[in-house]
Amino acid sequence: MADFRDLLQEADWKAEKHVPVIECPEKIKKGDSLKLDVSVGKQISHPNTTEHHIRSIELYFLPSGEKFPYQVARFEFSAHGESVQGPNTSTVFSEPKISACFKTEKGGTIAAIAYCNIHGIWKSEKDVIVG
Ligand SMILES: [Fe+2]
Repeated sequence: MADFRDLLQEADWKAEKHVPVIECPEKIKKGDSLKLDVSVGKQISHPNTTEHHIRSIELYFLPSGEKFPYQVARFEFSAHGESVQGPNTSTVFSEPKISACFKTEKGGTIAAIAYCNIHGIWKSEKDVIVG
């Protein structure tokens, strides 16, 4: 069996539709909130159907020099077109685009982890400086 850490897939988001894109300032002032937008499928749209969709995005933050990351937020996307008429009939589809906000006294690394119900777990990272 594969080691679980080997199942965290990474790629260039411009070429791979599953990769979460983290958009936020590279540097914030101490005491300011860090606001970030994260989306999946920014360059190449990911399917959004009852059978194939992005189900969640989780955000973690690892402050510089620390061993354990903190979970900042978790978003679940729950509507994928299903209704009593069957798959892809409701016209309601959650989209994998989120905004979050958190404070930190230290810089560090943000990780966004997206889960596709068909194609597994995808990770991207972005460093942020606090100064
Ligand atoms: Fe997928």
